[in-house]
Amino acid sequence: TGAFTFDPGFTSTASCESKLTYIDGDKGVLLHRGYPIDQLAEHSTFMEVAYLLLRGELPKRKELDQFTYTISRHTMLHEQLIQFYRGFRRDAHPMAIMCGVVGALSAFYHDSTDITDPDQRMIASHRLIAKMPTIAAMAYKYSVGQPFMYPDNSLGYSGNFLRMTFGVPAEPFEVNPVVEQAMRTIFILHADHEQNASTSTVRLAGSSGANPFACIAAGIACLWGPAHGGANEAALNMLREIGTPDRIPEYIARAKDKDDPFRLMGFGHRVYKNYDPRAKVMQKTAEAVLKEMGVNDPIFDVARELEQIALNDEYFIEKKLYPNVDFYSGVILSAIGFPTSMFTALFALARTVGWVAQWNEMISDPDQKIGRPRQLYTGPTQRDYVPVDRR
Ligand code: CMC
Repeated sequence: TGAFTFDPGFTSTASCESKLTYIDGDKGVLLHRGYPIDQLAEHSTFMEVAYLLLRGELPKRKELDQFTYTISRHTMLHEQLIQFYRGFRRDAHPMAIMCGVVGALSAFYHDSTDITDPDQRMIASHRLIAKMPTIAAMAYKYSVGQPFMYPDNSLGYSGNFLRMTFGVPAEPFEVNPVVEQAMRTIFILHADHEQNASTSTVRLAGSSGANPFACIAAGIACLWGPAHGGANEAALNMLREIGTPDRIPEYIARAKDKDDPFRLMGFGHRVYKNYDPRAKVMQKTAEAVLKEMGVNDPIFDVARELEQIALNDEYFIEKKLYPNVDFYSGVILSAIGFPTSMFTALFALARTVGWVAQWNEMISDPDQKIGRPRQLYTGPTQRDYVPVDRR
């Protein structure tokens, strides 16, 4: 029609203004509220990053203590929500459970669904950040038939999650500090990433005035796809399928073949046309965890060699395809003991911080409008209805 800009996949459309996250994809830079991701991953905690994203500044000591305390007060789930788990098949994908349970939160926490009230918005945000580890861990426990573990608020955010996932009521659970640190790093690296598909979904859902629990459930649904959060699961499955370094050339050839839909999972990014800064931190973390766990997993060798071959291959150089955050995260999570089906659930857990921060930023904007993209209609022109027996 000429009236609209046609931009399928939103490759050149900014859908909003945001003060949260800055990415320079050509240089491989990622900043949260101005702070480089590698510095946050090395020196910060997940609670501190959550505070930074939500409130705009790094917290002072007292503010951090207060925020951590507030989050810890919300870690339990309404007891009746446990019934929801029992309604799922044991082999349900954790992301299916997460979509359902998180959406259902809006039926339980009515006192934090009035989006016009900033205090209610903040309570809903705290609840979501606090309850996600419990929800994800319970999805895992249900799948393996073990009792659900209640949160232990004397532990930190990551340690508590590890205990709820791998602990059992029959014995005390020791949090391994290297694993806890790795978990924290993974959470920080996944906390936000500006207007990716799931965050845009949360914003679009929220733009209609939908309650935050429903919006985050929409984000989880979008994240599930293999081109987005599902890529970490797909990347590990691919590394396992390759199995040994001698089979790498076969897979590289497939990735380059135009007639083969196969892609190297964990490679390439819409925005990064350089090394994803998160992938660098992830590689270091993978080495530390494998060493600590004494895991001699050949897939780590496959990953490292695949990376080297791809980085030196003309096809990948020309298309600027580099490892992304998902390339090494699966190796780490698998060494810690998570089944592949949990990987995307962990991504959702961490990204909840970004989702709620972005949602709050949008709702606080007095000029906020419902998101309503236009289209270029390519269907038939007007025609007259034909009764069924005359068609
Ligand atoms: N392996 C082989 N070729 C690739 C790959 C890959 N992983 N990624 C892109 N290409 C090629 C693609 O075939 C296309 O070639 P051509 O121009 O000849 O048609 C070109 O590179 C550009 O790809 P695109 O699909 O147009 O680029 P996009 O920006 O739409 O897609 C992507 C980005 C992340 C969806 C894509 O790179 C991909 O599918 N990667 C594998 C999945 C993955 O690792 N996803 C995780 C992304 S990071 C975490 C997250 O966001 O959740």
